[in-house]
Amino acid sequence: MSRFQGRTVIVTGAASGIGHAVAVRFAREGARVVLGDINAAGLTNVKAELGDVALAHAFDVSNPADCAAIVRLAVESTGRVDVLCNVAGVLRLAPVAAITPEEWNRILRINLSGTFFMCQAALPKLVETKGCIVNLASSAGLVGVPYGAPYVASKHGVVGLTRALALEFAAAGVRVNAICPTKVQTPMVMGPPPEGVDYALLTRSAPWLNGGEPCEPPDIADAVAFLACDEARRITGIALPVDGGQTAN
Ligand SMILES: NC(=O)c1ccc[n+]([C@@H]2O[C@H](COP(=O)([O-])OP(=O)(O)OC[C@H]3O[C@@H](n4cnc5c(N)ncnc54)[C@H](O)[C@@H]3O)[C@@H](O)[C@H]2O)c1
Repeated sequence: MSRFQGRTVIVTGAASGIGHAVAVRFAREGARVVLGDINAAGLTNVKAELGDVALAHAFDVSNPADCAAIVRLAVESTGRVDVLCNVAGVLRLAPVAAITPEEWNRILRINLSGTFFMCQAALPKLVETKGCIVNLASSAGLVGVPYGAPYVASKHGVVGLTRALALEFAAAGVRVNAICPTKVQTPMVMGPPPEGVDYALLTRSAPWLNGGEPCEPPDIADAVAFLACDEARRITGIALPVDGGQTAN
């Protein structure tokens, strides 16, 4: 398939996990991919894997000037921006009493403000191409997760931001959608369970598809590529669960 031939796609969080899988997917389907992440070493590896179709740019998504710079790089190098995928994010699960103001602000700044700064920087270019945005929210953007107050608040914010931008830019022909995955096998969720939590409460959830078969990064990349492609041309302002039924009850 070459659904993205001749198009330029910016992927944040591209050094790891879902962002890596999304970058691979767009590159395989013909896109030029601009990879952004704060992890410069990880970016170098992904750039080496993808070759000449990729550009790597180390940046901090929570810094508006950095967000403007990666959009500028995409335009200077390829002349256009067709798709923005906001994947960069951080997670910390902890009881409310253990969350410091710094930790609260850090999670909101990266997950929510960073997504907004990238959208704000890219939207003028997306208006020119009638492009689209796909934001990585989470099932935690649709329902609560115990011990995840800042993360859940940030991801509900991403869903709200997605809807607001979809309405504001519909007339300009720019589509804005979000993906809401359940737990996906990436470094983000590989650590030991947090201290001081009720583990049974943390892992309680609806039955998952196929007996709870784990979700892998390419499963999410499939959904991102669908929402970004022309077959989704009538779809904007949605928060698409990719969660095996987790949020269906
Ligand atoms: N893994 C899951 O279970 C899961 C579920 C639902 C949603 N998500 C969301 O998917 C997205 C990707 O997560 P993942 O599971 O691939 O995690 P990951 O930790 O493998 O990747 C996240 C990437 O974001 C980058 N990043 C963090 N802070 C940054 C910053 N300030 N500036 C630029 N880059 C930064 C990291 O360096 C990393 O490469 C996140 O937004 C996450 O919230 C993940």
